[in-house]
Amino acid sequence: MTTADPLLHFRPEFPILERTTYMISNSLGAMPKGVYGSVPEYCDEWATRGVRAWEEEWWMMAREVGDAIGSIMNAPAGSVSVHLNVTSCQAVVASCFDFSGPRNKVVYSDLNFPSIMYFWEGQRSRGARVHMVKTDDGIHVPTERMLDAIDEETLLVPMSHVVFRSAYIQDAKAIVEKAHRVGAHVVLDCFQSLGSVPVDVQALNVDFAVGGVLKWLCGGPGTSYLHVRPDLGKKLEPKLTGWFAHENPFAFEIGAMKYGEPPLRFMQGTSNVPGFFTAMPGLKIIREAGVENIRAKSKKMTARLIELADQRGWRVNAPRDPERRGGTVAIDMPNSREVCSELLRRDVLVDFRPNAGVRFSPHFYNTMEEIERAIATVDEILSTMGVGAGAK
Ligand SMILES: Cc1ncc(COP(=O)(O)O)c(C=O)c1O
Repeated sequence: MTTADPLLHFRPEFPILERTTYMISNSLGAMPKGVYGSVPEYCDEWATRGVRAWEEEWWMMAREVGDAIGSIMNAPAGSVSVHLNVTSCQAVVASCFDFSGPRNKVVYSDLNFPSIMYFWEGQRSRGARVHMVKTDDGIHVPTERMLDAIDEETLLVPMSHVVFRSAYIQDAKAIVEKAHRVGAHVVLDCFQSLGSVPVDVQALNVDFAVGGVLKWLCGGPGTSYLHVRPDLGKKLEPKLTGWFAHENPFAFEIGAMKYGEPPLRFMQGTSNVPGFFTAMPGLKIIREAGVENIRAKSKKMTARLIELADQRGWRVNAPRDPERRGGTVAIDMPNSREVCSELLRRDVLVDFRPNAGVRFSPHFYNTMEEIERAIATVDEILSTMGVGAGAK
């Protein structure tokens, strides 16, 4: 099995695969067994080294984890800071800008992750003029529509690289180019891309890239990242700041902020050290597996899911073009919500989203047989419900 598909060589690294059909990487990637080793390491350091652990290891880890994430998206060393979640990364970016002048428009699409919208809607009270570009089909927003909305008054464009609802891969390059032509900045949310779809922040020349490690990077909750393009990183001054960002944090100076260098310049206070220990094993595996290899396999698996859904006449809420499709296929079969609950009961781990259906997100550790089995399980569930395959 592993010679035909070298990525299956990593399968024993993920204990949950022995007991379940794990296809929910869009929500929470499988835990690498290396975490059984890294978390006790953290505990031992705390228990035996106590406060000395900060200067021996913990203080440096934010930068190390940032660089490990950065290496997967071709970010220069020192350009990625780590935070608790993506929503707070948006807040750091917003705090670098002033919304009181004429350039105060924020352009985003209604396919962004809702938390991102809630955050930017909240910036209206700080002067942001939020402009929402709408989808017609719930799968994508035409690129032209995004480009037309970005104008000389646009300050920021917070956009998803891969849309969480449909796995549509937005044309980040075209959007960044338009934004730069008119003097705007793009905040690219790579949560649903990095680890499954190649991201190259330098080739995209993107201003900011954000995301978290808990989905496609198999890193568990508690670590998110913010890449700031180095030329901006040197000059931006986030107002959401703290002592980690100070040029000399251990001088404990009083008074106004004196900014240090990136990546710590974009951080605030004490970081989530246990999260770093859970993040490292997954990042190592993803780098070894190689995102190009993961992507090639992902395209095959999502194509097969679509084929199986089409054969049964189920509605597919994912792009048909493999080049525009990320790692998830949302399928709206009859009684989708109930089917999803029953799949979970039968250890096929997927999720359900209203207006999308059941989301199947196979990753590099899944087999083609598991794809067949997951859909065969849906057939069985529907037949026990008295709904024949194909009867929508
Ligand atoms: C594209 C995208 N952005 C952001 C988030 C959530 O961000 P956080 O909870 O880290 O603020 C998600 C979670 O599913 C997501 O899919």
